[in-house]
Amino acid sequence: MPGQSDTPYLDALRAYAARDPGRFHVPGHKGGPGADPGLVEAFGERVFALDIPALTYGIDVGDEPTPFVEAQRLAAEAWGGRRTWWLVNGASQGNHVALLTLGHRGQRVVTQRNAHSSTIDALITSGLRPTFVSPELDPELHIAHCMTPEALDCALDETPEAAGATVVSPTYFGAVADVAGLAEVAHSHRVPLVVDEAWGAHLAFHEDLPAPALSLGADLVISSTHKVVGSLSQSAMIHLGHGDLIEEGVVDRCVTLVESTSPNSLLCGSLDAARRTAATRGRELVEETLVALARTREAVRQIAGLDVLDERLAGAPGVFDYDPLRLAIDVRGTRMSGYELARRLREEHDVLMELAGENVMVAVYGMGEDAGAASERLIAGLRGVVEAASDAARDTEGVQLAPPPPWGELVMTPREAFLGAQEVVVARDAVGRVAAESLAAYPPGIPNVLPGERLTAETLDYIEQAIAHGGSLRGASDRALRTLRVVLES
Ligand SMILES: Cc1ncc(COP(=O)(O)O)c(C=O)c1O
Repeated sequence: MPGQSDTPYLDALRAYAARDPGRFHVPGHKGGPGADPGLVEAFGERVFALDIPALTYGIDVGDEPTPFVEAQRLAAEAWGGRRTWWLVNGASQGNHVALLTLGHRGQRVVTQRNAHSSTIDALITSGLRPTFVSPELDPELHIAHCMTPEALDCALDETPEAAGATVVSPTYFGAVADVAGLAEVAHSHRVPLVVDEAWGAHLAFHEDLPAPALSLGADLVISSTHKVVGSLSQSAMIHLGHGDLIEEGVVDRCVTLVESTSPNSLLCGSLDAARRTAATRGRELVEETLVALARTREAVRQIAGLDVLDERLAGAPGVFDYDPLRLAIDVRGTRMSGYELARRLREEHDVLMELAGENVMVAVYGMGEDAGAASERLIAGLRGVVEAASDAARDTEGVQLAPPPPWGELVMTPREAFLGAQEVVVARDAVGRVAAESLAAYPPGIPNVLPGERLTAETLDYIEQAIAHGGSLRGASDRALRTLRVVLES
């Protein structure tokens, strides 16, 4: 039986390519000859030779267990799940799978308000009616942290027919939720806990990192393997936990429901290989990265006006623990916004950040990269930008964050609003109408409006003020909020 040092699926692809069989099946590039020569030159011939379709004997059909099945078994073992499915449409697909799975248990769900947009989209595909829970807000950094067990308990009390609950941990900024507490609360209400751990695929591989959600009782965990663990973009996994609240067969059906019938073998092969690296060398690689990042944090702190988020954040409301593999830089002391700093880093140093907000910028490190060398470039860029910025560049006032008004009443499900007849109206005329789109003013990025909610004057005023103060609007079809898409009610 293959072990963690093996890559059964990747090996099966290689064996197929080495055999060079008669390819009378898709894809039409036929392993290279049918592809554009410039593309072959850019990508390399091997990419085409290894681009092999599903339902190929010896890879995912044939003698059981096939290499495809074996490789996913190894992934479940490495991450500590009952079963793992590879995903070829990212953690976004995982969120669709999760909510469709919950849809088998009922029609309502408790969801963190600032869930990733794919969770909001999954409310549309699943038709579930959400009870939203606000994450904890950081009053100084103006960023959203995690949902607390107490808030989940209240929401589940309010939603006795809930089919489950979904939370995000870690956040973009590295805050980790009290997943054990959340799982205990969910299970006391006899509902499964789904954790969107898109940013935490590495957590299982080093004891100094916050514990992974699967080890803390989560029932279904979404993991964006490509983000930190090193598989190709778009490849991800969903892991089933060890509880009995979710049926394996239902997850299996939901995975295929939202997946192409032609999953890309390169993405799957990269998942198999990333799993091998994580399982066999993950601890050593994470250790090196953590040491390099500790030095990087120190160097960032030495730059006038910059600070970093780190374990000091743990204990703040909604922050149970902190992921030290994330580098989140607090830029407030420079009197420049994160947007401005990131723009200058890009234009003057060709250094590109993962995320820039008003007060915080986030740099992502991969588990296996040479973080020390990468950091030198970042530190040099940050130093250059901060030292070169004139006083004129530093006059940003920043958005003074008033608490956003309560979100409007949910008068129909996001699915009903999305599929219903719609019209575009001038924003001021939208008061009292039902939104057909999402509106989230940044900072802090917690959606102010979601499809199916009644629009209020207070909310539109708030968003307008946020934009006027230099904030931005996400999710809206018109980011300046001149117009809005609303449901046409009869
Ligand atoms: C919390 C969270 N969930 C899900 C996703 C979607 O991941 P993917 O890009 O792999 O589809 C993201 C992407 O940033 C995310 O931040």
